[in-house]
Amino acid sequence: MITLQINGERRELDADPAMPLLWALRDIAGLTGTKFGCGKALCGACTVHLDGAPVRACITPLAAAQGRSITTIEGLSPDGSHPVQLAWSELDVVQCGYCQSGQIMSAAALLATTPRPTDEDIDAAMSGNLCRCGTYQRIRAAIKRAAELAGPP
Ligand code: FES
Ligand code: FES
Repeated sequence: MITLQINGERRELDADPAMPLLWALRDIAGLTGTKFGCGKALCGACTVHLDGAPVRACITPLAAAQGRSITTIEGLSPDGSHPVQLAWSELDVVQCGYCQSGQIMSAAALLATTPRPTDEDIDAAMSGNLCRCGTYQRIRAAIKRAAELAGPP
């Protein structure tokens, strides 16, 4: 049994501490918004926050998440009103959607530390999040729109 703090709730999960966080989130905690892509930290589909910083849940063992605050796409806002979610909707970023929870989590983490990101900041923060549908231009525009929606830093 392992105790984790997920989206502000204390959760007791019957899982091995070596299990990847992604497996536990999806298969045990029932939080399927975080996606499995490559399993090797190569695609970003599984991005969640640990204490606000983006991590790849597919290579993060539960033991490394213990005692830290885990945020998944389900916990980013109570009602989909995070500026990144609003901007994604306004600019109609999503195509198939498979990569997008990871994209949104990386973008939200970027804006939390860099409220007015340059193109270079965006490239550096988002380069590990792949999109087979090629939504990169809209993602860049939506990050800038989210920065506006969030208001002055
Ligand atoms: S599934 Fe984790 S980075 Fe691809
Ligand atoms: S929207 Fe389809 S993979 Fe990104």
